[in-house]
Amino acid sequence: MKEDFKQWSFNRKQWLEYGKRQMEERARKIEVVRKKKFDTIATHGLYDADTSHTYNSASIIEPIYMSTAQAYYNSAEMEAALAYEIPTWCYTRIANPSNYFLEETMALLETYQTDLEASCVITASGMAAIRAATEPFLQKDDSLPPPNFVASAKVYGGTFQQFSLRRGVEQGIEVRWIKNPLDLNEWKSKVDEGTRFLYGEFPSNPQVSIFDIAEVATLAHQNGVPLIVDATCASPALTRPLQFGADIVVQSATKVICSSGFSIAGTLTARKNIASKVGSEEMKSDFAMWVKLWPYRDNGPALSPMNAILALNDLRYLRMRMAHMSRSALTVAKYLEDHPKVSAAHYPGLVSYEGHAVANKYMTLADTDENMYGFMLAFEVAEKTPDSSVNARKFYDALDMIWRATDLGRVKTVATLNAISTHSQQGEEGRDLADIKPSTCRLALGIEDVADVIADLDQAFKKI
Ligand SMILES: Cc1ncc(COP(=O)(O)O)c(C=O)c1O
Repeated sequence: MKEDFKQWSFNRKQWLEYGKRQMEERARKIEVVRKKKFDTIATHGLYDADTSHTYNSASIIEPIYMSTAQAYYNSAEMEAALAYEIPTWCYTRIANPSNYFLEETMALLETYQTDLEASCVITASGMAAIRAATEPFLQKDDSLPPPNFVASAKVYGGTFQQFSLRRGVEQGIEVRWIKNPLDLNEWKSKVDEGTRFLYGEFPSNPQVSIFDIAEVATLAHQNGVPLIVDATCASPALTRPLQFGADIVVQSATKVICSSGFSIAGTLTARKNIASKVGSEEMKSDFAMWVKLWPYRDNGPALSPMNAILALNDLRYLRMRMAHMSRSALTVAKYLEDHPKVSAAHYPGLVSYEGHAVANKYMTLADTDENMYGFMLAFEVAEKTPDSSVNARKFYDALDMIWRATDLGRVKTVATLNAISTHSQQGEEGRDLADIKPSTCRLALGIEDVADVIADLDQAFKKI
């Protein structure tokens, strides 16, 4: 709807009415768009012809608003905007219209085909999203015992370090690690009055370990705390943890959401009315929005609008990419499982995988009944002794087409020796907890023809 220039003389009351109309219009759009299919939501989000004609010279692709700040018609608008009484973007560290398109699309995808209402805030990286999602629950509250949180030890090395060093060593918060996240009794044995949240990766990087989301969510809620899930390696195309009871889901959008590899980004999406022992009613009622309005503004983890649109552009094809990558990963997992130079292959799609039945419960390609298990797998190169990496390194150095890098979710297949890279900083004890061996090799399948990937693996195995 085109606004005419009457706005120059709007008073506060008129601005509030204008803001209310904008919010009603947004709610109406959300109701229309959320009924559409996954690929349609991913492609269009809330950006429609009306928005385009009004704000973006009728361009069919969303604008990249690089401006750091928004101007106001008059002081009445500025006052209402900065009091958060009307929609505003104000300053890119607080909000930005380009970022808004990615946030709205992610909130819709994470709640796809549910009645759940959720908000999303995007961040400069996945690590920033994890910090923004967890830190508010660790705030000081003298009426409670000293804080602890319970987290699967099978997490990305950066997350392990953020929790054990930044929260644990530097802030004195007790981190209670879960060694086997499939074991609900282990989770139960670690939760007590001081516990502020439960945390898990689904599936984990690199061992593709999983847990029963609904069971762990129930345990969290019985104890009045939220379950926070990092679903980076599943993405909303396969697993939407909010649907199964999780309160908050984080993504390193850097990975399969932005597969072309042009953008570091994170997303934090939370359902409305989450469980928590601490925090204001405002925080609990709309956590992601609260993060955006308050700690995000003060801490400054905002995403560049350029990166937001790069991620949004790749998000449109997420489901199709996931299907292709998952099929390739399953083919490669079966090849590795039977390979004489591989002592173990880890992939949720393998019948031999410990959590295969749980994976079938939670990992299904959106808009199909087909179980799919994602782009990532790990395997152990057979060694003479358990602490050796001689063969793993020979194999790794012989890879030709497959990239040696600490990356995953790319359109190009990437292999990683995790003990000497992504998980090197956490030391041997931390790697033991997380079950990462010197021989562990992670493979993140891209979109190449899988026959060429297997041919490369084959020639590299022959060099051992
Ligand atoms: C599962 C998982 N979560 C979070 C992160 C951190 O994301 P970012 O690199 O975007 O900060 C990674 C990075 O590899 C990851 O694999």
